[in-house]
Amino acid sequence: MNQLLATQFLNTIEAALESLRYPYGAATLCNPIKYTFASGGKRIRPILTMAAAQAVCSKGEVALRQALAIEMFHNFTLIHDDVMDHSDRRRGHQTVVRRWGENQAILSGDALMTMATQMLISDCPADKLNAALELFNTTAMDVYRGQQLDTDFEHLSRVSVNRYVDMVRLKTSVLLGCACRMGALMAGADSAQQQLFYQYGENLGVAFQLRDDWLDSFGDPAVFGKNIGGDIVNHKKTWLFITASHEAPETMAAALSEGRSRAALIARVKKVYKMLKLSERCDTLIWDYYNRAVDAINRTDISEESRRWFEALASQMCHRSK
Ligand code: IPE
Ligand code: IPE
Ligand code: MG
Ligand code: MG
Ligand code: MG
Repeated sequence: MNQLLATQFLNTIEAALESLRYPYGAATLCNPIKYTFASGGKRIRPILTMAAAQAVCSKGEVALRQALAIEMFHNFTLIHDDVMDHSDRRRGHQTVVRRWGENQAILSGDALMTMATQMLISDCPADKLNAALELFNTTAMDVYRGQQLDTDFEHLSRVSVNRYVDMVRLKTSVLLGCACRMGALMAGADSAQQQLFYQYGENLGVAFQLRDDWLDSFGDPAVFGKNIGGDIVNHKKTWLFITASHEAPETMAAALSEGRSRAALIARVKKVYKMLKLSERCDTLIWDYYNRAVDAINRTDISEESRRWFEALASQMCHRSK
């Protein structure tokens, strides 16, 4: 596994997403899906799936359809997530909900979820079908549980860091874990090896979401592609919000209750974050999870070159600005 192959996988994934077949005469239902795929995205999950397969059996393509299914599922969760989070921008474009409204976002998201399952099982070798479906469905249910906790937490004033990490494991990490494990599974790895790939993805997922939460406050909207401060406005219990509420409860309560303007509210809360040096401290936590991810990949029996590739990818995800 190397960088050249990763670029080839990305090109293969993009071409396959572009040539997806949609039901005839269903433009209203399917245009928001095409729009979502055309608007970009890092494609980190399907790349991980193909890379894991490549690292195990030297043939990344054996997991192509499952990689696509995972990217399709991810995009479905984003379409619904933007309804739940009242988000207007994603990948530098209007969200589906902003452009077409809630009903369309719900329905097109549903259609995409079904297309994902169809992709997962199409041409799946019979001896892998049950395991692939089990992994996919368990992961999907975990993601919904995580999204439920994420919305429940909006209405709680106190959430512990441990509960935050549990929530993130469900809403984000399991899909990265599933992406890695799926590749190993399709390539014929045994379950102990699959488990190590899962652990790599799972820990990378926590680092990934911590970085996403950091970018939601400190990112450059032109690069990040989403509006900044949505998490603050929605009272999302991110590590930043939880730690600020714990360490400076009065300042934080005042920052949240004064004035109504969105920009002023975001600026006040970010001032508390800066006062507590949370930006730097969040970074330390991110690298802590990075190390756990690297430990797991180093325990697999893939080649040294492949391990270094997974390590470099994790590092890139922890430094990312989009
Ligand atoms: C966004 O995922 C949702 C999170 C889990 C933070 P990505 O950052 O992978 O989004 P795209 O697909 O690259 O747009
Ligand atoms: C992402 O959480 C989790 C899922 C999409 C399942 P966020 O709500 O932070 O993701 P973004 O920031 O909108 O991409
Ligand atoms: Mg969300
Ligand atoms: Mg969101
Ligand atoms: Mg976010």
